[in-house]
Amino acid sequence: MELRHLRYFVAVAEERNFTRAAQRLHIAQPPLSRQMQQLEDLLGVQLFVRNSRPVELTDTGRFFYSHAVQLLAQTAELESMTRRVGKIERSLSVGFVGSTLYGMLPKIIRRFRNEHPAVELTLVEMSTMDQIKALKEGVIDVGFGRIRHEDPSIKRIVLREERMIVGLPVGHPLSELKPVLSLHDLVNETLIIFPKAPRPSYADQVLAAFRDRGLEPKRIYETRELQIALGLVAAGEGIAVVPTSVYGLKRDDVSYKELDDSNLVSPIIMSMRQLDESEDLTEMLELIYRLYEEQHMEYLPPHEEGA
Ligand code: BEZ
Repeated sequence: MELRHLRYFVAVAEERNFTRAAQRLHIAQPPLSRQMQQLEDLLGVQLFVRNSRPVELTDTGRFFYSHAVQLLAQTAELESMTRRVGKIERSLSVGFVGSTLYGMLPKIIRRFRNEHPAVELTLVEMSTMDQIKALKEGVIDVGFGRIRHEDPSIKRIVLREERMIVGLPVGHPLSELKPVLSLHDLVNETLIIFPKAPRPSYADQVLAAFRDRGLEPKRIYETRELQIALGLVAAGEGIAVVPTSVYGLKRDDVSYKELDDSNLVSPIIMSMRQLDESEDLTEMLELIYRLYEEQHMEYLPPHEEGA
């Protein structure tokens, strides 16, 4: 059996149609059908339900599909890692979610560039879920996000758990109510959440925080990103629960209040390919912990999640 068989089979299984699969693979349909017949003969099993339209997989076909997808992902990973190992010049492509820009990310990048001038650094903004895909495809080498997503080919390190605070329009009655607020105090307000897509995102962490405490905000306003959410707060459209680092933005039309519950946190997660043991990544991780120490920040002891 060859990799080609796996690629062709996955395309047919996902398109559920031989013509569309052939188009996706840029080949004609008859050779595709022949290859699939050859694959079934080779394995001595039936992978497709005969004459089914749209194409349906047998139980054996479904088993084969789940393993074929993993094998193809590992092959793509092997390709990108080998290219990386063989590269003469060093480079590191970093994926990040927007909110990490208000935390330590700019400092980390500046310091890394200073300490490793020979490494070409590229920054790409993308959601945590897109980071997982981009890591597997070799588009980025490291991702900084907020969502805990299990994937066998991705290693995750939770760097720190960032406390959430609430942003209110300046002069809002809640900012005078008491020194520290609870989520319960916020339920009658319009809760502005972000990013509205793709999901799951930080928005779901905020919604889960209410749900886990048996609370339901009266109105929800979903918006694209943090800056827009804060602009809407400033305009008096509602309130937003944001990571503490946003405080650094210091807008004079938004006031921030702490929340009373130490479990109201959003993690900052560093993700990389499971098999990537490159020096650049180890050095970046060491630099992050060094900066946390220098800035007297709270962080989690270095450990790999799900390991
Ligand atoms: C942080 O704020 O702790 C952080 C942000 C981005 C990358 C690494 C750490």
